[in-house]
Amino acid sequence: MAIPESFLDDLMSRTDIVDLISSYVPLQKKGGRYWACCPFHSEKTPSFSVTPDKQMYYCFGCHKGGGAVSFVMEEEGVGFTDAVAILAKRAGIPMPEYNEDEGQRKRRERLLELNKAAARWFHANLSTPQAEPGRRYFARRGLSKRTITNFGLGYAFPEWDALLKAMQTKGYTKRELLDAGLAVSTDKGRIYDRFRGRVMFPIIDLRGNVIGFGGRVLDDTKPKYLNSPDTLIYNKSRNLFAMNIVKKSKAGQIILTEGYMDTIALHQAGFDCAVASLGTSLTEDHARLLAKYTKEIVLSYDSDEAGVAAAKRAIGILNRVGLNVKVLKVVGAKDPDEFLKQYGPSAFQRLLDQSENQAEYQLLQIQKKYDLTDDEQRVRFLQEAAQFVALMPSPVEREVYGSRAARAAGVESKVMSEEVERQRRQKSWRTRRQEERKALTPAANHQPDQRSFRYEHVRSALAEEGVIRLVLMDPSLFERLGSLKEEQFSAPVLQHIFQLLRQRWEEGLESTLDSLSARLAPEELSHLTRILQTPERQGSAEQALADYVSTIQSEYRKRTMSGDGDLLTLIRDKRSRNNT
Ligand code: CTP
Ligand code: MN
Repeated sequence: MAIPESFLDDLMSRTDIVDLISSYVPLQKKGGRYWACCPFHSEKTPSFSVTPDKQMYYCFGCHKGGGAVSFVMEEEGVGFTDAVAILAKRAGIPMPEYNEDEGQRKRRERLLELNKAAARWFHANLSTPQAEPGRRYFARRGLSKRTITNFGLGYAFPEWDALLKAMQTKGYTKRELLDAGLAVSTDKGRIYDRFRGRVMFPIIDLRGNVIGFGGRVLDDTKPKYLNSPDTLIYNKSRNLFAMNIVKKSKAGQIILTEGYMDTIALHQAGFDCAVASLGTSLTEDHARLLAKYTKEIVLSYDSDEAGVAAAKRAIGILNRVGLNVKVLKVVGAKDPDEFLKQYGPSAFQRLLDQSENQAEYQLLQIQKKYDLTDDEQRVRFLQEAAQFVALMPSPVEREVYGSRAARAAGVESKVMSEEVERQRRQKSWRTRRQEERKALTPAANHQPDQRSFRYEHVRSALAEEGVIRLVLMDPSLFERLGSLKEEQFSAPVLQHIFQLLRQRWEEGLESTLDSLSARLAPEELSHLTRILQTPERQGSAEQALADYVSTIQSEYRKRTMSGDGDLLTLIRDKRSRNNT
C-alpha cells in the first residue's frame, strides 16, 4: 500500500470528523449524532448524520457513507491519495515520502505541466505569420482579441509533428505526449500530433489547470471537433468548459450550452455564466458539479431535433440533483452563437427573461405531438398532459398548468382538473399498494440500496452483515469465528469486505473506514457504513457472533445440498460420462 498505515493512523488521530464536516456544512447536534442537509444530494430536511464516536458519516437519504477520507474524496472529487493529502495539510503534518502513488502523482504533475506548455505554445502560435488561417478563422467568427486571450485560444499548425518537436525541445518525451492525448501513434508505431491545422480551445479545470483540448477545423472537413481523449488528468464526463470562469460569476444562474463556440460567444456578449459539456451528453457528475455553484440552470441547447432531445434528457438529470431548470428557446437561429450574431446581446437577454420553466416546456413538447383540431387526438393530448400535471406536487402548479393545457385543447379547466385528480387518485392507490406489499415482505427492506449488491439469500446476508459489524467493532472476535469460511458468505459484496477485514487483521492492521477507503469502492464503503448504522443487539457479542456464524453455515449447507448442489453433481456426472 502506498501510504503507510502508521501515517494514516497518526493523521486520523488528529482529524475530527465533526470538525472536518462542519467546515463544509453546518451541523446540528441531536442526541449522540450531528445532523445536516446532505451535501451530496438535495434535500430540505436533514438526513445526513455524523457519528463522532465512530468517526463516520451516513446519509439516510442517498445512502452515501464513510469516514473522513471518503468524505473528502466525495466532496472534493479526488482520489484516496489526494484526499489524504488534503487532510494532512489541514492537520498541518507533511505527507510522507512513498513510492508507487508518488510515481503516479509525479506523472500527473508532468502531464499538467505539459498541457500548460502546449496551451501556451498553441496560443503563442497565433501571433506567428504561419497562423494567418487561424487568425482569420477567429475573426470570421467575430471573436475579439480579448476573448481569445481570456480563453487562451490557440492554433495548431498543419504539420504532422510541430507540437511534438516543440515539446520535445522542452524536455517532454513522446511517451508523455501520448499519455496526455496530444499525440497519437499508428499501428506501425509512427507517432504524430493529434491536433493539426485546427484552432485550439484549452479545457481548464476549477483550479486553473489545463487538462485537455478541443480543436476545430477551419473549414467543413470532418470531424469538425477533435477532443482530448480521457487521460490521467482529463475526464470528459466530469468537466465542463468554462467552469473555471463561471465559478466566479455573480449571475445566480448558469447557462448550459452544447458547444465551445456557444459558450465563448455568450461570454463575449457579457453573459459570464455560460458553460458547455464537451463532445458528450450531460452526465450526473456534470449535474452535481453545477449544483455546487448554482440553484438554477438555463438550458440553451441547439434548436434542432437533437438539441431538443438532449435538453429533455438533461432536464431529468439536472432535476435529480435538485436543480431548478429553465429552458431557453433559441428562435430564428440554430444555436446561441448564431442567435447572438444575428440579433445581439439584448435580444438574448430577452430570451433569458422569457425562458420557460421546464413545466411549460415539457407541456409544449407534449402538445406538439398532437393535432389539436382532431377530436380523438385532443382527448389523447389531455390524457397525456393530465398524467404529466398529476405528478406536480403543488396544487397551484397543477391548477396553472392544468388550465393551460385545457385552454390549448379548448376545453373547460374543470374538465382537465377532474382528469388530473382522477389520475392522482389512481396513482396514490397504486403506490399505497406497492408500499403495503413491501411491508408484507420485510426482506425487501433489508436489501442494499445499490442494485448490483442485491442479496439473493437475505437471511444469510443479514447474518453476514452481523459478523462484519462485530469484527469491525472488536477485531479480537476474528479468533472466535470457528469454522466460518469466506466462501460460505452468500453476498459477494459482503464476502469481499469480510475478506479484506480478515486479511488486514492477519497482517496486524487495524481496520477503520478511513483505512478501508483505499481498498473498497465508494459504493462498497457506503454499504459498509450502512451496515454499521444498525445497532448490534444488546448482550454478549460472542453469543451474537456464534448465532450469526451458525446461521451463515446452516444457510450455506441448505444452498449447497439442495437445488444448486444437485444440479452441480448432475452436470459433473454427465460430463464425466461424456468423456468416457
Ligand atoms: N462536438 C464534438 N465533435 C464533433 C462535433 C461536435 O466534440 N465532431 C462537440 C463540440 O464540443 C461542439 C459541440 O459538440 O462544441 C456542439 O456541436 P455543434 O453544434 O456541431 O457545433 P457548434 O458548437 O455549433 O460549433 P460551430 O459553431 O463551431 O460549428
Ligand atoms: Mn455553432
